[in-house]
Amino acid sequence: DYLVPSRLYPGHFYALPQSPQQLKQLLMVSGMERYFQIARCFRDEDPRADRQPEFTQLDVEMSFIEQEDILQITEGLMTEIVEKLSAKKLVKPFPRMTYAEAMDKYGSDKPDLRFGMEIVDLASNIPNTEFKVFRNALDNGGCVKGILAKGCASYSRKEIDDLIELAKTFGAKGLVTIQLTEDGIKSPIAKFLTDSEMSAIIASMDAVTGDLIMISADTAAVVANTLGHLRLEMGDRLNLKDPDMLYFAWVLDFPLVEWKPEENRWDSAHHPFTAPKAEDIQFLESDPGRVRSDAYDLVCNGAECASGSIRIHQRDVQEKIFKLLNHSDEDIQLRFGHMLEAFEFGAPPHGGIAPGIDRLVMLLTGEDNIREVIAFPKTTTAWDPMTEAPSMVSDQQLKELHIKVNIPPQSTAKG
Ligand code: AMO
Ligand code: AMP
Repeated sequence: DYLVPSRLYPGHFYALPQSPQQLKQLLMVSGMERYFQIARCFRDEDPRADRQPEFTQLDVEMSFIEQEDILQITEGLMTEIVEKLSAKKLVKPFPRMTYAEAMDKYGSDKPDLRFGMEIVDLASNIPNTEFKVFRNALDNGGCVKGILAKGCASYSRKEIDDLIELAKTFGAKGLVTIQLTEDGIKSPIAKFLTDSEMSAIIASMDAVTGDLIMISADTAAVVANTLGHLRLEMGDRLNLKDPDMLYFAWVLDFPLVEWKPEENRWDSAHHPFTAPKAEDIQFLESDPGRVRSDAYDLVCNGAECASGSIRIHQRDVQEKIFKLLNHSDEDIQLRFGHMLEAFEFGAPPHGGIAPGIDRLVMLLTGEDNIREVIAFPKTTTAWDPMTEAPSMVSDQQLKELHIKVNIPPQSTAKG
């Protein structure tokens, strides 16, 4: 949150809205059945190519609807926007896949579908492998998967080494390469695989002479991250990302929560008001990581351009989720008491979505940095070079706000 000190209430702060999530839900509870707003949002995160501290959402919420209603309305809107405002082409209807499928095939929850190069599971080809890297991964519940780069068998030693180094930046410990050259198979692990294992891998990958196979063996998460990123890299190198295409897709059934090892607790994958799937509620206490939610993302060309969910509208379920997220009773009452109370007045089932307008404009204009489509954006260090914000304020202003600043002098540098 960005915090704003209150002049009238010494020592108290407003938080700028990260989004109007709770407010739009309260409107639904109050009987306002449909809402949309072009909403300014503020998040104190580190800016990235597609992320700014201040951005704009087309915020939507509706009562008495199901996921299908939201998907169809959003899909219709996006289609009309693209067809009316852009020369780019899109594929209709938008394909749909579950989060699990996206991670499995593309190693990402925001797959770039402008090209194939799907990730292939190779475990069934090597059940008895003695190659220790594969053996360890499989024995520890991990996986062995590969992608195919067509026509890259002729990569030099240096190019292969660079790919391995690149793989390591995504958390991999190494990368197996198999080059199907005119002169035969070139691979550092050829001697560790039987002929039938090697042929089974090549057949599963649909590889022919001239191709390069890259294999990662590790936990499912590391393999997905490694091959997902290598896939995008190879898509660039091989010029597979058609600049005239907007390839939208829906990603459904996200996990409800994810484990935060640094904080030693579960955290919402979307936000705490997202409804768990009815059939998975039974696992909330015994196996929270297994619970899927009624959350959906709209992705396009490898970017997340909208995100939403069906909401919890029952007090007891909402309380259970807050507890799972490790909020104390006191904290729940203080921060979310108004939501819980509202749910007691016969709250309607409701849900919504919020497309990011700046990201959508980025896609429509083909820019790769969100700064290009925002007037007066902040730099990557969240700084405004024109007004030099954030800036120091006078002692008088601080006094009015009852604030004492306590920082070592060297940490005031910006830029
Ligand atoms: P979420 O946090 O996923 O969901 O945001 C929705 C969409 O807003 C855009 N977006 C951003 N764009 C630019 N810079 C940022 N820092 C930034 N953060 C998010 C993305 C994203 O898909 N209240 C929920 C929505 C809901 O459940 O209805 C929400 O804000 O395009
Ligand atoms: P090593 O036994 O570490 O010499 O590795 C043998 C080969 O396996 C090298 O080509 C490594 O790049 C590769 N390798 C090592 N660890 C992994 C891994 N986790 N996934 C894929 N390949 C790996």
